[in-house]
Amino acid sequence: MSIFKNKKSFEELPTHIAIIMDGNGRWAKKRSLPRTAGHAAGSKNFKEIARYANKIGLKYLTVYAFSTENWKRPKDEVDNIMNILRDYLKDAKNFKDENIRVKFIGDIDALDEDIRLLIDDAEKESENATGLKLNIALNYGGRDEIVHAVKKIVESGIPADMINEDTIGNNLYTAGMPDPDFIIRPSGEYRLSNYLIWQSAYAEYWFSDILWPDFRPKHLDMAIEDYLKRNRRYGGI
Ligand code: FPP
Repeated sequence: MSIFKNKKSFEELPTHIAIIMDGNGRWAKKRSLPRTAGHAAGSKNFKEIARYANKIGLKYLTVYAFSTENWKRPKDEVDNIMNILRDYLKDAKNFKDENIRVKFIGDIDALDEDIRLLIDDAEKESENATGLKLNIALNYGGRDEIVHAVKKIVESGIPADMINEDTIGNNLYTAGMPDPDFIIRPSGEYRLSNYLIWQSAYAEYWFSDILWPDFRPKHLDMAIEDYLKRNRRYGGI
């Protein structure tokens, strides 16, 4: 049973959770299945967790779907992930019926034109949704995002002495969003892998051995329960 049955708990949710959806390949290997089966299971799970996050009243969820480094994978695997994304994007019902607002963050301009058009449609289709704000990081890298922001700032001609942390933040893909409060990484890896490196400066972290396709809503509950016990001091005492 969810721990979020009473209103008080809802009010205590972190505002923004970010998840690194890791472990699809190992999940498939354990079952002697191709890696593609792991990504299919990971995608199914992504939809379930997004729906659940919306149901419990989470405001922002950001998931890592494909990094700027993931192009190093075999072409078949990259094609498979992109096709999973195409299928998801074509199913506009995902956004409309659920009242979830979807946005993509990352270097989208470098993707195939058909995906860019589907992304555009999906973002427009859901722009008036009032529920969860779901960010999907695609062709995303934290360092790449900062380089991109610096280029925009230089091109805008802002004098160096006028540049502060807000200038950088306002030129990231996540401009206008609160920083993630809580970053979850399943699959037994203990690193950030170039994910939201600027935005996560004061985030709390939760790691677990569970592989992403096995990460259920009850695990999200457990993680949030853990988060609620923490004492965030932001450098103070
Ligand atoms: C990491 O697991 C997972 C990825 C690089 C791809 C994640 C993509 C999805 C879950 C599909 C997303 C779909 C939508 C619609 C957003 P891994 O392959 O690195 O696993 P391993 O570390 O066990 O090999």
